[in-house]
Amino acid sequence: MNYSRSIIITGGAGFIGSHVVRLFVNKYPDYRIINVDKLTYAGNLENLRDVADRPNYVFEKVDICDVDAVRDLMHRYDVTGIIHLAAESHVDRSIKDPFLFARTNVLGTLTLLQAAKEYWDDDSRDVLFYHVSTDEVYGALSFDGTLFTEKTPYNPHSPYSASKASSDHFVRAFHDTYGLPVVISNCSNNYGPYQFPEKLIPLFINNIRNRRPLPVYGAGENVRDWLYVEDHARAIDTIFHKGTPGETYNIGGFNEWKNIDLIKALIKVTDRLLGRAEGEDMNLIQHVTDRAGHDLRYAIDATKLSKELGWKPSLQFEEGLEKTVKWYLDNQDWLDHVVSGDYQKYYKEMYDGR
Ligand code: NAD
Ligand code: TYD
Repeated sequence: MNYSRSIIITGGAGFIGSHVVRLFVNKYPDYRIINVDKLTYAGNLENLRDVADRPNYVFEKVDICDVDAVRDLMHRYDVTGIIHLAAESHVDRSIKDPFLFARTNVLGTLTLLQAAKEYWDDDSRDVLFYHVSTDEVYGALSFDGTLFTEKTPYNPHSPYSASKASSDHFVRAFHDTYGLPVVISNCSNNYGPYQFPEKLIPLFINNIRNRRPLPVYGAGENVRDWLYVEDHARAIDTIFHKGTPGETYNIGGFNEWKNIDLIKALIKVTDRLLGRAEGEDMNLIQHVTDRAGHDLRYAIDATKLSKELGWKPSLQFEEGLEKTVKWYLDNQDWLDHVVSGDYQKYYKEMYDGR
């Protein structure tokens, strides 16, 4: 088959990446989708079982820091687009091991940029490097109702957000210095199926189902702006196809929740879907020592994306939360495999030596 485009999606075995891969493989049978992932602890090919056998899907177990391997992929597949999601993504891990975050998020992004620049030099075709980033690069807001816009100055606080901010700067530098066609999007907190249960929502669903304590950092007053993951994947599709090279787009659902309020809502939904009395598990809440440098509030202004490119979130939060809890309870095997580490053993054996 002659594909109209060959697109690398990095981090496709992770949470958001798997939704982007699924969307592109299903929606664009004339595109060849190359999922490039190192399969770290966060990469799980079980997330993509339903599309693994599609003719327009390929998996390549590659570390994005390996420049020779990345160059080889560009040539071998004659790549015309990169959607870059591979990253270390958990703030708490970044506090423990900042060097790993600098390696993957900064050097990995730089490696991809360099390989794209070399391969696309003098390319007259429609090529694009799409960098998927986070709202955390903007720092933290107070409770004054202001929102992050595309013009908000960068002010990252955690090693995670500092590494993502640095990678964003490199992407812009490759556009401004070498003319590489790039777009960047900065999205708020995602939730939904296939999220690794170290992040708030899946961790707490798993703990509620097993009646384990729910560790709320500090007073639980911090605010996050939550977006259903499939809405993020749709936004990436929209920006990839309609965005203007050199531009940045903020993605968010205008959906701010104080952690403690979200956690109480989550307990009620989970209890109800488990057939328990609604709110029965409120006693699992345990306030623990706050995260170091814990950003107070994130909130995204996604007006530019909706006005210029016509994207809007499709789900109300209550609906999305119910759908998400139901998915984790219907897919307890997936959760159990991830928590036990079995998912890694299986695919490690399969790809060992590659
Ligand atoms: P994730 O941790 O679930 O997945 C990351 C994926 O990257 C994994 O499959 C992992 O194996 C892969 N990976 C890590 N290091 C690699 C390397 N060196 N080479 C190749 N692959 C590697 O992350 P996620 O939550 O899906 O986030 C994806 C992207 O979206 C990240 O860039 C993140 O910064 C961004 N983002 C996430 C959120 C969120 O709420 N999760 C919000 C906004 C932006
Ligand atoms: P998280 O899912 O780690 O995302 P991020 O730190 O990137 O926003 O955390 C979401 C919020 O929940 C954040 O304010 C930290 C808080 N949190 C807890 O209170 N307890 C937990 O066990 C976790 C993982 C997070």
